[in-house]
Amino acid sequence: MQSFQLESIAKTAKEGARMAGELSLKRMKQPYEVEYKTSASDLVTAVDKEVEEQLVKLILSRFPDHGILGEESTFKQDPNQFDTLWIIDPIDGTTNFVHQQINFSVSISVYHRGEAMVGVVYDPSRDEMFFAVKGEGAYLNDRKLHLDRQVTLEEALLCTSVFWNKRAEQIGIDQIVKKLAGKVRGMRLLGSAALEMAYVAAGRLDGYVSMSLNPWDFGAGRLLVEEAGGIATRMTGEPLPHDSKSSVMACNPTFYEELKQYLNISK
Ligand code: IPD
Ligand code: CA
Ligand code: CA
Ligand code: CA
Repeated sequence: MQSFQLESIAKTAKEGARMAGELSLKRMKQPYEVEYKTSASDLVTAVDKEVEEQLVKLILSRFPDHGILGEESTFKQDPNQFDTLWIIDPIDGTTNFVHQQINFSVSISVYHRGEAMVGVVYDPSRDEMFFAVKGEGAYLNDRKLHLDRQVTLEEALLCTSVFWNKRAEQIGIDQIVKKLAGKVRGMRLLGSAALEMAYVAAGRLDGYVSMSLNPWDFGAGRLLVEEAGGIATRMTGEPLPHDSKSSVMACNPTFYEELKQYLNISK
């Protein structure tokens, strides 16, 4: 079994995120195919697939025995058969990519035996690289990120995507979020979970909540938040998984417990 080569893995993650982001920006200016995955609000473009393919190629050229879990599944494998797993979302915020041409990101995380070791979220439109290595802190470009500001729930700027989830209505979380919206300073919806979590790490948002996300949406963002001094868990407070869907809450530690009380759901 190979040892975990943290430094070269981190370097490749950063390099891959930049390559992927630049490719997305370039392809965005040319015509590309857009398909519905499951509905008119669930898009995938030829660019998502091409970017994922390029990322897979880069990762396997350097680490042929690592596993890859990608949203577009251009490379199908059982994620749990590998010690080291790359979790990639080539374009997080595909709807923004198509409509706004801004507010999308590349998300890459690397897990070793289930533990998040490296997390990168790259916003190519603003050339912002959010980067974290386990135990070594989180950075935005060259600036180290610290969530050392005390923020109460009343002073918090929160971000969510729960409104768009049909299950939210079934379990009544739409009402919970409505109540929460009346309590906090403001609510935002940006449309890229990875970027929203990176913004929590950077202190641009104080918290992010979602009913249901995939590991490629939150895999990198959770390490960014944790390494900046925040907390990222399921809404129940349990640890986030690396291989299944999960609810997510990520925030400044000052009001984590209070926010969890608000989101008091069993799953
Ligand atoms: C989506 C974005 C969005 C979140 C959705 C995700 P995609 O990812 O992160 O903010 O609300 O749940 O599926 O499909 O654009 O990569
Ligand atoms: Ca998608
Ligand atoms: Ca995504
Ligand atoms: Ca995606």
